[in-house]
Amino acid sequence: MREVKLSPSGAFDNAAREYRHITVAPISSSMGAELVGLRLAELTDEAFDELRHAFWRHKMLFARNQNLTHAEHEGFAARFGPFARDAYTQGVPGHRPVQPIIKEADHRSKAMFGSGWHTDSPFLASPPSITILRAVEIPPYGGDTVWADTALAFRMLSPTMQDMLRPLKVRMSAAANMATQEKVSGKPLAFASDESREAALAGTAHPLVRKHPETGEEALYVDEVYAIGIDGMTEEESRPLLDFLTRHITQHAFTCRLRWEVGMVAMWDNRACLHLAANDFDGYRREMYRTTLA
Ligand code: SIN
Repeated sequence: MREVKLSPSGAFDNAAREYRHITVAPISSSMGAELVGLRLAELTDEAFDELRHAFWRHKMLFARNQNLTHAEHEGFAARFGPFARDAYTQGVPGHRPVQPIIKEADHRSKAMFGSGWHTDSPFLASPPSITILRAVEIPPYGGDTVWADTALAFRMLSPTMQDMLRPLKVRMSAAANMATQEKVSGKPLAFASDESREAALAGTAHPLVRKHPETGEEALYVDEVYAIGIDGMTEEESRPLLDFLTRHITQHAFTCRLRWEVGMVAMWDNRACLHLAANDFDGYRREMYRTTLA
């Protein structure tokens, strides 16, 4: 007889470390933590070093009451390294790395930018490592962002499954996302340029299990929006495996959820988690800005 699904257990460790310059408060047992009482735009080098340490550990960090300008947002993000070039937008005037993500109150659609489980732009040969998002206007309810820890999900697989996955390469492309978005909205999905559109459609194959360059932690690199196949497998063979892996990663035990506030900033590590934006606020406006790092 089929067993009732059991809770995963034994590999959760999202406890805060003690720091000298920052205070961190975890928000779930899997991942995510609040940075308490600091100004991101005014961090000393010592505080920034500790923030980086906490970031690799918790995979998503957020801070309230920041109210950053585009210039402050850009300046804070630049401390992590060079910017990625966004596939979808040219940025806001005067700040190319700052990309608007705005849904108007009268835009009612079953598909919204970022509303399926994904990692940012994995169709690129070098996808963005980090994303930093800030809220300028939020709906009175809904529009939360949810993350799922892909390293914890990998640790919770059987050793046999882990060994089977390690040598595989997953093909990531924007083709399915583009077709779906165009079907529901009736207009072409916007890209930064024709070149970006072609690169996004052609896609890239990446290792399905990736070692994090800072922590050495292994994590799954697969999602429901962009993963379209596994190199060397037929569609019939790869589809059940891709579907199982996305279901496994996104089970609630591996997730954390953020209720946005105006002025808030959240940052996440695309190499160690998936995320989605809940498309559940019809009739209200949501105005966000993001930067992505190479
Ligand atoms: C994104 O997918 O990068 C944006 C997520 C959000 O709007 O909450």
